[in-house]
Amino acid sequence: MAAVDHPSKTHDVVTDHEYDGIREFDNPLPAWWLWTFVLAFIFAIVYWIATQSLSYQRSDQAYLSHKEEMVAYQQEMAAKSVSEEELVAIAADPAAVAAGNETFQANCKACHLERGEGSIGPNLTDGYWIHGSSPKEIWSTITFGVPAKGMPTWGPSLGDKKIRELYAFLASIKDTNVPGKEPQGVDASGAPAK
Ligand code: HEC
Repeated sequence: MAAVDHPSKTHDVVTDHEYDGIREFDNPLPAWWLWTFVLAFIFAIVYWIATQSLSYQRSDQAYLSHKEEMVAYQQEMAAKSVSEEELVAIAADPAAVAAGNETFQANCKACHLERGEGSIGPNLTDGYWIHGSSPKEIWSTITFGVPAKGMPTWGPSLGDKKIRELYAFLASIKDTNVPGKEPQGVDASGAPAK
């Protein structure tokens, strides 16, 4: 290694190799570069400890406590995918009602019986509803179910189209008062079934 000629640059040391006439200084790394490297290194250790051990459980608990909110949020988003008008329109379409009837016989009869008069599940033909009787409320009950009470979640297995057709079928048997399971829930005015 030989120092370069210029006397004011005593730190400029030239390395002893040379490639195609190109020679190379052996200068120290710039301070800003070194400090960026050192700080990034320290940050990485601190960050790793903080995320892998300290806050790991905390974020896990946060996830659990937000889970219900997340489910509610997802349901809210899904409910926005359908409008009251669309449901009212499909209920007026005889082909949709017929298709909904078929799906009902295949999936719902076991608990609500053939005409929707109810056994394990409520009577769907009376004027009383546990989870609301508006088009969107009925759509929502079918889509998300009431798992805690034994009403399955149908959205994922049946898909959007069949759920809408099921709504059309339910709208067609609504208030037809087929004798069956005694009324549950409240009527349109909010009065409870005795
Ligand atoms: C395994 C039994 C079971 C099956 C199958 C089932 N349900 Fe239900 N359903 C229930 C029960 C139980 C309830 C009452 C939930 C409660 O008490 O909150 C219910 C409630 C409902 C309600 C709300 C009634 C109200 O009063 O608010 C609707 C609407 C409904 N079911 C539609 C359907 C449709 C459509 C299908 C088929 C795709 C279906 N159910 C299949 C058991 C079932």
